[in-house]
Amino acid sequence: MRAWVAPRYGPPEVLRLRELPDPAPGPGQALVRVRAIGLNFADCAARLGVYPRVPQAPFVPGMEVSGEVAALGEGVAGPQVGTPVAAVPIFGGHAELVAVDARFLRPLPPGIDFVAGAAVAVTGLTADHALFTVGRLRAGERIAITAAAGGVGTIAVQMAAAAGARVLAVASSPAKRELAASLGAHETTGYEGYRSALADGVDVVADAVGGALFRPGWKALRPDGRYVLYGFAAALGPGRVRYLHAALELLRMGALLPSALVQATRSLSGFNLSLVPHLAGELQARFARVEGMLAAGALRPVVGAVFPFARLPEAHAFLQSRASTGKIVVTL
Ligand SMILES: NC(=O)c1ccc[n+]([C@@H]2O[C@H](COP(=O)([O-])OP(=O)(O)OC[C@H]3O[C@@H](n4cnc5c(N)ncnc54)[C@H](OP(=O)(O)O)[C@@H]3O)[C@@H](O)[C@H]2O)c1
Repeated sequence: MRAWVAPRYGPPEVLRLRELPDPAPGPGQALVRVRAIGLNFADCAARLGVYPRVPQAPFVPGMEVSGEVAALGEGVAGPQVGTPVAAVPIFGGHAELVAVDARFLRPLPPGIDFVAGAAVAVTGLTADHALFTVGRLRAGERIAITAAAGGVGTIAVQMAAAAGARVLAVASSPAKRELAASLGAHETTGYEGYRSALADGVDVVADAVGGALFRPGWKALRPDGRYVLYGFAAALGPGRVRYLHAALELLRMGALLPSALVQATRSLSGFNLSLVPHLAGELQARFARVEGMLAAGALRPVVGAVFPFARLPEAHAFLQSRASTGKIVVTL
């Protein structure tokens, strides 16, 4: 099979298309013939060597794919060979074939093609977890969502609006803010206007950017407010990791005094779904919730760009450049 290999950690240009032996599904795994790759910011972080548990280089990145089940490993009863599925292998998905833990795989619902199917698994599961499990978002509450026009953001905006929350979408350009508004955001702001947009307070902040954005959002939380931090995009920029820039962004988040949380009556939670495999048991229920919203028309995948497999490094560079909107999908 052909796969995009990172022979060493680094910028998109390090990726090389190589011929590798076909993987075989191990016990508990299914082999997926990949038809589309959903690109995640985490794939950029993995390629740069700064994602948790990233394999030693050389390795094949690739968190998310859609495709057909090609074979089943020992102990896996289904879905049967040929079934179109979405799958989350975490690593290894930038390839024509990938072996995936069968718990992280789900048949594509009717009406969802491979491109759309590669765009809603990680985004749907992450947004659902951030908003409703960790953020405990309720109807009538006001939520600020950062990177609102990105892959996860476009799904989070739709989910929050559908749940009856008042959505403040935060994004860096007018075009991105227009996209967020078209998806149901009630208010939008750029980063420069963020502080004043928060003047009335918020109940929940769903933040995947961190850095300088953290303090204003944290201070604006109303009593019982919940700050959900699930990414640190501010640390990265185009090209290589700039460690000084990342350290400065970390410092700009400041320090917290745990005892102050009591009188402030607010909470700060962080999560990375890839590090909590015990949540796998809940994944199928989460998938089902996302599928329910898709079927009801309350949610639509937002695919901002599609690249052919041969140009996958360009897709990486595009996502890391901060210019993309919605999900970037690579087709095979
Ligand atoms: N914890 C988890 O389990 C989990 C799962 C999935 C994703 N995530 C996180 O969620 C975030 C979104 O992921 P995604 O794949 O959907 O990516 P994305 O939102 O499509 O792209 C990242 C966005 O981050 C914003 N950003 C802010 N500062 C940036 C910088 N210095 N460089 C690049 N982008 C910057 C940009 O939006 P603006 O231009 O509007 O600022 C950019 O479009 C990422 O932080 C990712 O790590 C976490």
